[in-house]
Amino acid sequence: MDDLKSKYLTQIADAADEALLEDIRIAAVGKKGEVALKMRELGKMTPQERQVAGPALNALKDEINSALAAKKAALADAALDARLRSEWLDVTLPTRPQRHGTLHPISQVSEEVTAIFAEMGFSVAEGPRIDTDWYNFDALNIPGHHPARAEMDTFYMHRAEGDNRPPHVLRTHTSPVQIRSMEATGAPTRIICPGGVYRADYDQTHTPMFHQVEGLAIDKDISMANLKWVLEEFVKSYFEVDGVDLRFRASHFPFTEPSAEVDIRCSWEGGTLKVGEGDDWLEILGSGMVHPKVLEAGGIDPNEWQGFAFGMGIDRIAMLKYGVPDLRAFFDSDLRWLRHYGFAALDVPTLHGGLSR
Ligand code: DAH
Repeated sequence: MDDLKSKYLTQIADAADEALLEDIRIAAVGKKGEVALKMRELGKMTPQERQVAGPALNALKDEINSALAAKKAALADAALDARLRSEWLDVTLPTRPQRHGTLHPISQVSEEVTAIFAEMGFSVAEGPRIDTDWYNFDALNIPGHHPARAEMDTFYMHRAEGDNRPPHVLRTHTSPVQIRSMEATGAPTRIICPGGVYRADYDQTHTPMFHQVEGLAIDKDISMANLKWVLEEFVKSYFEVDGVDLRFRASHFPFTEPSAEVDIRCSWEGGTLKVGEGDDWLEILGSGMVHPKVLEAGGIDPNEWQGFAFGMGIDRIAMLKYGVPDLRAFFDSDLRWLRHYGFAALDVPTLHGGLSR
């Protein structure tokens, strides 16, 4: 038994891998291994001999088994060590210096506009891009025969024959959100609504989908003076200039009375646009005092409340601020263009931290 023991313990100690170890296990303590054969001999022994040999054989078997288990664990540890050494990786190496995504200029400008108006107490409202013609037109005092409907190059949704639901359109402006937000919150209210709008038009300054931001402020004592101040504050903050002249030009919109289009003073000297200086004027938005019929359509009593509204093209002011000459490029998804005009995704515009860095 001592011979068996030293023979197998040496073999186990010398085994170089798990397969060898398994061979040793079968030869030593397997069903037909040497220890099993020895156990079979117990039957031929006298009871006294058996009392000594039986426990000794069991002890030998246990010892060989635990030597096998210990060696198996040691081999596994060594294999893991070897793997860790061969698969070593220097995690302190710099990452690839490649920029992945960027924020689209339209998203950036929407964030900038939102940050500026948030500072003045406006919250963001949203409405559906597919809306009924009632919200898009009638409620805004644009009845069926009104020429404004034709001017807007509206996309109408297809209707199956016999479908009696109200006609739906792709909204042609963000103004329907005025009505939806009046319905939702009543007066007083102060909201802006940035979002996509649609018109069947396509050239260097028109795309069939573009973006507007609507503004609406309703209270008991709102006047054109408030509108003028709010827009002046906005333009100064947005173009990041100290002062800017605004020109209010009398105009007409069905949903405002009186109505004004607003121009900003600018110069085109040297072919680049500078806001706030020079002798040129650039139209940036439409605005006015909300028409009583529009307040009524939104469920607000025009004898008690009044308000101003405005609508501005986001793509337009993005082109102006960031020097994009062709509107269509915004929607081409050209990666080189996006890398050039895009913004770092984590630089959220704030008034204190800087709008556009
Ligand atoms: N909805 C108008 C358009 O798309 C823009 C506009 C003009 C909005 C005057 C207004 C407003 O809220 O008061 O052309």
